[in-house]
Amino acid sequence: MINIFRIIFLFLISSCISCSQNINTTKKVDSKAMVVSAHPLASEVGINILKKGGNAADATIAVQFALAVVYPSAGNIGGGGFLVYRTNDGVCSSLDFREKAPLTSTRNMYLDSTNKVVKDLSLYSHLAIGVPGTVDGMVNIHEKHGKLPWEELVQPAIDLATNGFELTRLEADKLNRFNKTKGSINKNSGYYKENYSEGDSIFLPQLSKTLILIRDHKRAGFYSGETAKMLVKEMSLNGGKITLQDLDSYHSIWRDPIISFYKGYKIISMSPPSSGGILLTQMLKMAENFPLRDFGFHSLKSIHVMTEIEKLSFADRAKHLGDPDFYNVPEKLLMNSSYLQKRSDKINMDSTLLSSDIYAGEFNLKESEETTHFSIVDEYGNASSLTTTLNGSFGSGIIVDGAGFLLNNEMDDFSIQPGYPNMYGLIGGEANAVEPSKRMLSSMTPTILEKDGNLFMVLGTPGGSTIITAIFQTIINVIDYDMNIEQAVNSPRFHHQWYPDEIKLEKEIAKDSNLISQLKAMNHQLNFVNSMNRVDAVIRKGNKLIGGADRRGDDIVSSY
Ligand code: GLY
Repeated sequence: MINIFRIIFLFLISSCISCSQNINTTKKVDSKAMVVSAHPLASEVGINILKKGGNAADATIAVQFALAVVYPSAGNIGGGGFLVYRTNDGVCSSLDFREKAPLTSTRNMYLDSTNKVVKDLSLYSHLAIGVPGTVDGMVNIHEKHGKLPWEELVQPAIDLATNGFELTRLEADKLNRFNKTKGSINKNSGYYKENYSEGDSIFLPQLSKTLILIRDHKRAGFYSGETAKMLVKEMSLNGGKITLQDLDSYHSIWRDPIISFYKGYKIISMSPPSSGGILLTQMLKMAENFPLRDFGFHSLKSIHVMTEIEKLSFADRAKHLGDPDFYNVPEKLLMNSSYLQKRSDKINMDSTLLSSDIYAGEFNLKESEETTHFSIVDEYGNASSLTTTLNGSFGSGIIVDGAGFLLNNEMDDFSIQPGYPNMYGLIGGEANAVEPSKRMLSSMTPTILEKDGNLFMVLGTPGGSTIITAIFQTIINVIDYDMNIEQAVNSPRFHHQWYPDEIKLEKEIAKDSNLISQLKAMNHQLNFVNSMNRVDAVIRKGNKLIGGADRRGDDIVSSY
């Protein structure tokens, strides 16, 4: 009976792929090149660059700048992100263009004189803003991998900002929500109109000027000159900390990606200061100790085991992960097979581990809609997986006066006080404490998979802490549950992050009332949410590319 229910449930999921209003996926299984992003105009910009002979790196740069215009809640030049890149000859690299704490930051900068956290200071104030990394990141990608001239990659974003573009319904709704909630802290809120409807055209002349400076002067168009002066003025007039020295000293860094294996697939993902690659490795390695395929998709046993695994991994995140340039992250130990075997031995099939009974592993050695992801494969076989963020939706909500771009509120991703939850409810300690020039810990998990030495899958998602569990589950959906990529990205998801001690589940899962009763009977605390993440992925089968654009947004596959 349960199996029949599950089959009907899977059928409903896959049929909703073709019936929901929000679904914009374009199935083109014979594609040579593909871009999957959160916005149709950004995907179009990327595919046009590929058609002109650009490679995945060129398209990545063009899509990032286009998203800064058409998808301002997360696309950005005032934020940061991570890239995982695989060339067609199998060389993998990853770029960290995460924001940094300003040079005058202090550990207790978000506490009052009684050592209490000042509400919203790390989220909605000029002190919330980390030194942006995106523009330096794009220049760095271009220098290492770019093929087309830089100017041609920035120009499509300039055209969109200058000539205007039409708002989708979701984008109009988001901007209206932004205007209501952020107007109070943003004296430049007039930059966006008070009210928008689907189909309205929007023009962004100040942003266009800034993009022209970036087109003509690359890094110097943002980190020095007019843009930098405007950004620093915005800071100094409003109690922010970023100075010209902070901007001048910002540099993105090529880091070795985290490499691991799951059932014969090679997983290439982001290293610290993202926690994504290490936690994904932990989760997949622990999952290998259980017969998830036999348990079945969204069975009581599979959800139970996977949430226990997620809890154990997030406990390690809180204690052991931070910026590796400041804190000795015990990477090897955290991903060691016998350590992870011992961790997964704690999982009992008949009862639930309480979060209060779980601790991070001890080693003898010291050692959010809010974000957006896109996946690109070019016709030469190069693959790019990029996740970028302002942190909260529209970041701090602060727009640089005169320069027309939104600034992040990434400082909240630090542990601003030991045990105090950030906007995603994540807690941390020493490893992720605020320090000058340090990068705040992230959950962004841009990832690439290989099978038998060949490119197999490119994927990533927004969603703060839920990013890692969404990537974990999407990989399991494909490898263990034989889903096609559309089913895999569109299936409902669940998430546990140790604290709070609850499983967040998308509401569709509640339709299986039997499953819900059984989870409750095992003492799992359940919290139903409307929607989590927007996974955008590409799979390669033979010479064909197949895209999976998440039904939860305007996400779209463009290909040729
Ligand atoms: N700002 C969300 C993250 O980096 O995980």
